[in-house]
Amino acid sequence: MEFNKTNRIIVIFTVSILVTISTHVESRSDSPFSAPAPAPEVMKPIASPANSPAEIYTDSPAASLEAPADSFSPTNPPSEIDIYSPATSPEALVASPEALAESSSAAPSGIKVSSSPRSLLNPPLLSPEIKTICGKTDNPPLCESSVSPLLTPQLKPDTSSVLILAIQASITATKAAMATVEKVDASDCQELYDDAVVNLEEAVNAVKSSDIATVNTNLSAAMTDYSTCNDGFEESGEPNPLADVADKLTKMVSNCLAISTLIK
Ligand SMILES: *[C@@H]1O[C@H](CO)[C@@H](O)[C@H](O)[C@H]1NC(C)=O
Repeated sequence: MEFNKTNRIIVIFTVSILVTISTHVESRSDSPFSAPAPAPEVMKPIASPANSPAEIYTDSPAASLEAPADSFSPTNPPSEIDIYSPATSPEALVASPEALAESSSAAPSGIKVSSSPRSLLNPPLLSPEIKTICGKTDNPPLCESSVSPLLTPQLKPDTSSVLILAIQASITATKAAMATVEKVDASDCQELYDDAVVNLEEAVNAVKSSDIATVNTNLSAAMTDYSTCNDGFEESGEPNPLADVADKLTKMVSNCLAISTLIK
């Protein structure tokens, strides 16, 4: 009799603990933005050395575009960081400690062991801030695909930082087009594409000094460079072998202009 009573108390006690824990976990996953609760299972990976990017990001308010890449710990060199993984998205680092904990343990292999439906169904490829900014351009998918290879964990996803990345992507794309431009043997187009690069580089500097009028002038000038090259082919009646290249570059720089109008 005494034994049965003790057993019942143990069972009731155990069940109530389980209910408390599961309710707790449920509420945590329902509200990823709530403050991390002291759930030992979930928080454990946070304290592991492999998780250093989170500490770097949250502990260094000075983190910026120019932050040195060597601020990473040897356990997690930049080359191993997957920019598409939630662990290195600044958004995830700040907002979702449990998503971070889940993904950081799996990050080196790139295999997700997470069983969270939220992160499996809707992986945060780009932070919401960047998606919002690109959403204001005429060509959001091009904006996102231009910017995402240049993202770093230290990036503050504000408008100026995203604009600089979008312009840098345009510079890279214009330089990459030079090989094609040279093959075409239209010397004025070579000069025009060179001038576009100079304009884009000056636009980056103007963003850094918050001179948005100059940003707009230089971005517009780069677009004029591409179209002036196109005009040459149109006037001569020859087919334009740079039509597709110029079209993509024009869209990229047009996206930059749209982003620059968001800066107050
Ligand atoms: C960029 O714009 C500024 C301000 O209008 C202008 O002075 C500068 O010459 C432009 N840069 C280029 C390469 O045209």
